[in-house]
Amino acid sequence: MIRELSYTPPLIGGDFVGKHIVTVDQFARKDLETIFNATISLRKRLRQHDRGLTELCAGRVMASLFFEPSTRTDLSFQAAMRRLGGDVVGASNGVQFSSVYKGENLADTVRAAGCYADVIVMRHPQKGASFEAAYYLDKLNQRIDNPTVLISGGDGIGEHPTQALLDMFTIYDHKKTFDGQTITLVGDLLNGRTVHSLAKLIARYGVTGTRLAFVSPDSLRMPAEIMSMLAELGVSTYETADLMDVLGESDVIYWTRIQEERFENPGDYEAIKDRFIMTPSLLSHAKADAILMHPLPRKHEMGTQADHDVLDEDPRAVYFEQMENGMFVRMALLAKVLRGVYV
Ligand code: NCD
Repeated sequence: MIRELSYTPPLIGGDFVGKHIVTVDQFARKDLETIFNATISLRKRLRQHDRGLTELCAGRVMASLFFEPSTRTDLSFQAAMRRLGGDVVGASNGVQFSSVYKGENLADTVRAAGCYADVIVMRHPQKGASFEAAYYLDKLNQRIDNPTVLISGGDGIGEHPTQALLDMFTIYDHKKTFDGQTITLVGDLLNGRTVHSLAKLIARYGVTGTRLAFVSPDSLRMPAEIMSMLAELGVSTYETADLMDVLGESDVIYWTRIQEERFENPGDYEAIKDRFIMTPSLLSHAKADAILMHPLPRKHEMGTQADHDVLDEDPRAVYFEQMENGMFVRMALLAKVLRGVYV
């Protein structure tokens, strides 16, 4: 049960040190530029096997607290911390074998991790859980000498802020600009936290001549509060249930999985699960210089495994680069929140 707490996440405002990261609303354009520059530098240094990297977080400890399954977010954060010279702890055999099993609440579990670690990466199935965790960590931090930072690795159907950072970086890396683009988000826009954070972050960055196209079944449209935020920030949007309306004009195609685990009624999932399937023949309608992204994991929304194999060979498919960028971006973020150093 997530309690209604009055927790206001701090704006980054050019200073990352010690700040919990729970929503993309904390970021302004300048903060994103800082992360992108740090990411480019860290990527280069890593490729050159720069041994100085391991000094950046030496002696620091990250706790990995995943209450929901994860491959990329968990592994990339762990790898990022280790590549910066830091260490990682996690409940042996996962949080289900921690005191969570005995009925310990989130507020206490997160404060236990806070006593031992400098940064906690947490994924939780309930929207608002990262806000609650940050609220209680602030209480703990008033009592202990070594304050701990919380980074959300996905907050139910709410947000996935670090995924949006790596998604934005991947677009920037390929397109060099966010202006004048048609960025098309496809799939479960209601329950998909990655698309919530990405749409909001594009708006926070501030774009000119860019259009966000949202393609989903009618029952899975982008939440109204996000649509109104985009309107307030002057972002041009277009909603449709027909992919062909926008596929041929899209510069960025961001494909997503229907979030089966979020459906209360399996019949509702069955009714729409095959609506949007990316296949090699569908991709043939896209622009030659479009990029096809996916936060992964992928299931049948990218066809069969044989379809995957063909799509993966297409130069427009950038989801493996996107996945690798996850580690570079998380290295940048960890270095910034723990040390604030120029990298
Ligand atoms: C996503 C997530 O967990 O929100 N995965 C990820 O972090 N890369 C997307 C998904 O599960 O569909």
